[in-house]
Amino acid sequence: MRETPSTKLPFFSELPAFFSRLESQNRIRTLDPPSGLDFCSNDYLGLSSHPKLIESLKQGIDLYGAGSGASRLVRGHRTVFEELEVLFSDWVQAEDSLFFANGYAANLGSISCIADPSYILFCDRKNHASLMDGVRLSGGKKVYYKHSDLNDLEQLLQKYSGSKNKMIVTETVFSMDGDKTDLAGLLYLKEKYGALLYLDEAHAIGLFGKDGAGISLEENISEPSNIDFRMSTLGKALGLEGALISTSKDARKYLLHSARTFVFSTAPMPAIAYAGITSVHMVKGMEAERRRLQENSDFFRSSLQSFGKDTGNSSSQIVPILLESEANALELSSKLNSHGFQAKAIRPPTVDISRIRVSLNSKITKEELEKFIQVVREN
Ligand SMILES: Cc1ncc(COP(=O)(O)O)c(C=O)c1O
Repeated sequence: MRETPSTKLPFFSELPAFFSRLESQNRIRTLDPPSGLDFCSNDYLGLSSHPKLIESLKQGIDLYGAGSGASRLVRGHRTVFEELEVLFSDWVQAEDSLFFANGYAANLGSISCIADPSYILFCDRKNHASLMDGVRLSGGKKVYYKHSDLNDLEQLLQKYSGSKNKMIVTETVFSMDGDKTDLAGLLYLKEKYGALLYLDEAHAIGLFGKDGAGISLEENISEPSNIDFRMSTLGKALGLEGALISTSKDARKYLLHSARTFVFSTAPMPAIAYAGITSVHMVKGMEAERRRLQENSDFFRSSLQSFGKDTGNSSSQIVPILLESEANALELSSKLNSHGFQAKAIRPPTVDISRIRVSLNSKITKEELEKFIQVVREN
């Protein structure tokens, strides 16, 4: 979810009034367990419930026990973490990778120690909260460019061309809009203006590029190792949790000693890394699922558009159905729910335009898609 302007925590005595205000705006959340058909999770390849991955996780626990017991710099390290890092680096064609507990910690910890107050950080306006929190914590100067607008980015790079330290920070597939960044264009600008490039592949890993290794491995990208930092989470298409930052050997070494979310945090369960290895092997071979998911996403988008629904610039498995008001989004979400589909309304300030954020996965059949589309059409 992209960065949300925070709702400031009021003093405790003011909390009842605060909650009743949220209630009147329909903003009190209930934490419902999964119900109905999944049209909203990020389990894009259905791996979180795959028997082979579940078995691997159990084996990992048998081999390594439960918790790791400490930070990897103390006594939490196991060779299985490194085995995952080596395999992962080979997959995404990076020199090296470092494993973090999750994508949020990876973005926050890495960006905040890569950049310092001497940096200008060029951020896509729709970047995820974890990227922006890392930017803020770094103390560098945050400069937003218009969403996916590389002309705007170039103007800003020109404006700050006198600054020595620059980094461009962006997602590759945007989590709320499902559109893709122009990576070839970003690589060109990065070279031209001598900036570092930090990519968040959270919603692309497993789904795009050679063997599902991400947008960085798309055919028109000649040298993925020119990308300075790539964050890939295991929490979405890979069906687990955890995340890797893929980078150069030296930069990995630096992060290992400096990223505070790595250094000052208990290492993840080793079993997660063990199952992560299984997941990478499985995902590499899931070309048929990837193709079907993209075909279904194309079909889904064009069907919605055929009766006037706006799906923005989506070109991935994430398809927003943009709506005129928050009330419309809530109404459609509950209608879908009553027909057995779980699809959530996402509203300002999390996004600029209220929507149902549909995220498709490879287990959804064409018939189920058609039924979902029918409910939207009749709404
Ligand atoms: C673009 C993006 N980056 C990072 C994250 C955080 O990843 P994780 O869920 O592994 O913490 C998310 C998850 O919501 C995301 O959408």
